[in-house]
Amino acid sequence: MRPSRDLAWETLTRYTTSEALLRHALAVEASVGYYARLYGDDEEFWRATALLHDFDYEIHPTLDKHPQDGAPILREEGYPEELIEAVLSHAEHLEIARDTQLKKVLFACDELSGFVHACGLVRPTGLDGLEPKSVKKKLKQPSFAAGVHRDEVYEGAALLGLELDEHIANVVAAMQPIAPELGLRTTADAPQE
Ligand SMILES: [Fe+2]
Ligand SMILES: [Fe+2]
Repeated sequence: MRPSRDLAWETLTRYTTSEALLRHALAVEASVGYYARLYGDDEEFWRATALLHDFDYEIHPTLDKHPQDGAPILREEGYPEELIEAVLSHAEHLEIARDTQLKKVLFACDELSGFVHACGLVRPTGLDGLEPKSVKKKLKQPSFAAGVHRDEVYEGAALLGLELDEHIANVVAAMQPIAPELGLRTTADAPQE
């Protein structure tokens, strides 16, 4: 079965009700989808994978279960091994080789999407006008979005062979069109001068 993005969303929302988790899934989906387009790869498949990467987090919120105990569920739902293996590979503790472009992109977008989201939340114009420079500055402030693993952000850009600035700019551009769904303001919401 070649899963569609909409099927993955249907599965995700059956296991996940938390708004924060759904927004995280959408943010990672947008970023991974952006890279699929950039690389001319299978956007629908990549989006489905991204949507499902944390699908079991609500039912398995600890690393002794997430994401490994989600895999049999995805298998039962009929998802292909290629998707399941990519989902498993986003977790550092499973030490699965990131040997496909999809695995690399998923890993590279996971933490950074969350961090860019956090940057957008504290700006009156959300992601509009958010420069890589200011994202990098915030990465150096340990207290800002403290849950985001900085080392994984840097490792992700290196894995893609991209400068961090370029990777940040891509993720910002990817998330911008869905800013309202992510609960972010846009220039249109900013007070007029
Ligand atoms: Fe995860
Ligand atoms: Fe994630």
